[in-house]
Amino acid sequence: MASVCVVFLVLFVSFESAGSGQLISLNSDTGLNPRVPPTSWTSPSSRFEFGFHPHGSGFLLGVWLVGREATLVWTPFRDDPPVSSDAKLLVTNGWLILRTETIDDKNITGHQLRGSASYASMQDSGNFVLYNQDKDIIWESFKFPTDTILGGQNLSNGGQLLSNLSESNYSTGRFRLKMQADGNLVLYPANTEDLAFGAYWAADTWTESNNTHQLYLNDTTGQLLVRDGVNLYPEKILFNGTAMPKHDDGIIYRATLDYDGVFRLYSHSFNRKNEVEVLWSVPKADKVKSLCGLNSYPARNDNKTHCLCLPGTDFVDGSQLSLGCEKDFIEERCIENKLNAAQYHIVLLKNLTWDDVPYFKESMPSEETCSKSCLEDCDCEAALFIKGYCSRQALPLKYVRVPEESSSAFLKVDLGNTKSKNGNRVLIFVDVGFLTYSIVALALSGFFIFKCRSVVKYRKLLENGKWSMADDLALRSFSYKELRRATKDFKDKLGKGSFGTVYMGALYNGKKLVAVKRLEKMVEEGEKEFQAEVRAIGRTHHKNLVRLLGYCTEGSKRLLVYEFMSNHSLADLLFSSGKRPYWDERVRIALDVARGIHYLHDECGAPIIHCDIKPHNILMDDSWIAKISDFGLSKLLMPDQTRTFTGVRGTRGYLAPEWQKNIPISVKADIYSYGIVLLELVCCRRNMEVNVTEPEAVVLSTWAYKCFVAGELHKLVGGEEVERKSLEKMVKVGLWCIQDEPALRPSIKSVVLMLEGITEISVPPCPTPPSI
Ligand SMILES: *[C@@H]1O[C@H](CO)[C@@H](O)[C@H](O)[C@H]1NC(C)=O
Ligand SMILES: *[C@@H]1O[C@H](CO)[C@@H](O)[C@H](O)[C@H]1NC(C)=O
Ligand SMILES: *[C@@H]1O[C@H](CO)[C@@H](O)[C@H](O)[C@H]1NC(C)=O
Ligand SMILES: *[C@@H]1O[C@H](CO)[C@@H](O)[C@H](O)[C@H]1NC(C)=O
Ligand SMILES: *[C@@H]1O[C@H](CO)[C@@H](O)[C@H](O)[C@H]1NC(C)=O
Ligand SMILES: *[C@@H]1O[C@H](CO)[C@@H](O)[C@H](O)[C@H]1NC(C)=O
Ligand SMILES: *[C@@H]1O[C@H](CO)[C@@H](O)[C@H](O)[C@H]1NC(C)=O
Ligand SMILES: *[C@@H]1O[C@H](CO)[C@@H](O)[C@H](O)[C@H]1NC(C)=O
Ligand SMILES: *[C@@H]1O[C@H](CO)[C@@H](O)[C@H](O)[C@H]1NC(C)=O
Repeated sequence: MASVCVVFLVLFVSFESAGSGQLISLNSDTGLNPRVPPTSWTSPSSRFEFGFHPHGSGFLLGVWLVGREATLVWTPFRDDPPVSSDAKLLVTNGWLILRTETIDDKNITGHQLRGSASYASMQDSGNFVLYNQDKDIIWESFKFPTDTILGGQNLSNGGQLLSNLSESNYSTGRFRLKMQADGNLVLYPANTEDLAFGAYWAADTWTESNNTHQLYLNDTTGQLLVRDGVNLYPEKILFNGTAMPKHDDGIIYRATLDYDGVFRLYSHSFNRKNEVEVLWSVPKADKVKSLCGLNSYPARNDNKTHCLCLPGTDFVDGSQLSLGCEKDFIEERCIENKLNAAQYHIVLLKNLTWDDVPYFKESMPSEETCSKSCLEDCDCEAALFIKGYCSRQALPLKYVRVPEESSSAFLKVDLGNTKSKNGNRVLIFVDVGFLTYSIVALALSGFFIFKCRSVVKYRKLLENGKWSMADDLALRSFSYKELRRATKDFKDKLGKGSFGTVYMGALYNGKKLVAVKRLEKMVEEGEKEFQAEVRAIGRTHHKNLVRLLGYCTEGSKRLLVYEFMSNHSLADLLFSSGKRPYWDERVRIALDVARGIHYLHDECGAPIIHCDIKPHNILMDDSWIAKISDFGLSKLLMPDQTRTFTGVRGTRGYLAPEWQKNIPISVKADIYSYGIVLLELVCCRRNMEVNVTEPEAVVLSTWAYKCFVAGELHKLVGGEEVERKSLEKMVKVGLWCIQDEPALRPSIKSVVLMLEGITEISVPPCPTPPSI
């Protein structure tokens, strides 16, 4: 009895009426806990509550819509398990803190709170709002949506909704709805980048210029639209609202990205027995991508969606079917690119296709040749034959689906060697068509890793007017004749590098500009080996790497076709344009380059050592994004990268000292070259410059260290106004990178973290230790 009294004191709440909600003054006596009522703060209309709600054997903290079944519309810690009944919501120093016995205190507002909160209110709209002493809004739940927006709420530019994991599990699920910076509203599987071929629905509201687009749900009519956030002009009406039923002012609208990947608009009608209706939804359930896990695809039957495994694969885990499927046979390793073809056979499926990016695509006369080419290609595990083109693929496939037009899919299946089967299980999704409150306990989890990715934004596909960018990402093989025509018989020379001469070209009737590189000084190499290398390069997709589009190998001729970079190289920008780019631009370029190298070293299968990082090999695209070119080529010249090179391959001035010594070359050689580039970016000059006023400034790398020790960093940037901290950061990273001793140089990952300001940078030692 006594303890109850104490708790009642703790729960003392004072109300004060204001606006659409009552103001609750927050002080150290205010709080909520799930054991003693009131366990929540209620909106004036009693439709919404903020507080603890029973969930399983524990409680959830959040905002929910009251009804026959409570609908959680916002929660601060969705990826945490429900809390037990001893949890408390406390007010400390004006922060709302969740305290439990097992975990550290947590701010329900994260670190987003501006100032300290003096009042809170649960508003009739479903917005939970915090105010400062002057009753200015300092935080609101409407600004941090989880899977739902309510009437009156915006999803602003750059924001996204993430679906629930399942109907009964509110954790972050497998789909997202993104209000993109380009103005488009797009649905993607979660854990993917904003890439066209992953998207499964779009509002098509993108614009060329900057925009302030937002998704908005009108609270009086239920109109759902993408609008301009400044003048509120509607860009596209997704649902035009209901004609309001007379005498019914009790409707709450809610737009939710549901756990099954469908975005639905609901109405909750309070005056008519809590009826819930779906007013609008996109897309059709069978258009959702990645609904099933890897190597798995949906099939519909009796308004239910089942997940099935591709032939030759079986569920990874019989109890967690959404983990997808894996090969049910033991893999033979490809030895020297050869495989015992007789051990495998090919299964033809007319009713399946996929949107994944193939590693190789070429024109073929028939289904049979395509099938045969997959059987004979060691890397090939699946192939598609569509409209005369054969695309070869390695598993896993993320985007398997039932095709709209005829296609032929082939899967390579082992004849013996099968693992034990998991049995014939299927994963079932129930249609949410007209909302039923059936609870299907599904533990879905999808973790798709986009290793080799590119930055083809969703909107690009609209320009091309087709759904899949996969085609454009696949490597093509060209005939020599084709390339000779494209380059007008190798007329316009763009430049000459260490590997050969580069020519300007145009493909597809002049529509697509390309750079064609004619390789010289090649190690004599068979066609197969060349193709294997080129394919490895073709598999790299990163925003900061120049993309390889295709190649040609005919007789002794070896050519590579790259995307065309309209703004020349970083060398041109830094050394010959006469105007130095702004400091912030240079910092961004430094990060661009570091990210590109990070991808080559750490993110794309076997590390690719570039061996020749220098401003001439860093090209600028239309939007001045820096992209590294010529990567992977040193391997064509010198197959075993880990061995000592007999001849020096890189460029003087950027070469790490180990090239001159007889020690193996590692990724750290690239770090050295990057360090020099970084210092050149800081100073907008070459590492070696003879025409300088101070004699000690001739070699940039030594001069930079001298200036650093003397505390005279400003000398490095001449008269330019540069923020000291930022300058110091760049120079320190540069000096760490150019250490003589490879082991002292940071990894490229650390470089990125240091440049992003995430990790501290210690004081670098002298790059060249004094010789004894
Ligand atoms: C809560 O957030 C504020 C600022 O947003 C921060 O200063 C404070 O340290 C946080 N408190 C806890 C316990 O995390
Ligand atoms: C939701 O699913 C996640 C991942 O499977 C699991 O860790 C968590 O405990 C589940 N939460 C609830 C409330 O069931
Ligand atoms: C998300 O999960 C919570 C808790 O299970 C549930 O209340 C809510 O209705 C779910 N939302 C959707 C859209 O499924
Ligand atoms: C677009 O926005 C970016 C970032 O806010 C800005 O740097 C750029 O100048 C803007 N471009 C145009 C055309 O307004
Ligand atoms: C919502 O729709 C009503 C009726 O069309 C309109 O009068 C009102 O201005 C809209 N509200 C907002 C905030 O756009
Ligand atoms: C929604 O956007 C409008 C226009 O940008 C803005 O005035 C309003 O404050 C926003 N509402 C919320 C809850 O963020
Ligand atoms: C939306 O509804 C309004 C009024 O009900 C009507 O005037 C308007 O034409 C409709 N817009 C569209 C695009 O259907
Ligand atoms: C496709 O066809 C195969 C064999 O004909 C069948 O087993 C499979 O269920 C079919 N899949 C779909 C999605 O119709
Ligand atoms: C499937 O759904 C439709 C529309 O909701 C309904 O008319 C039909 O009877 C359902 N079929 C089955 C087999 O449940």
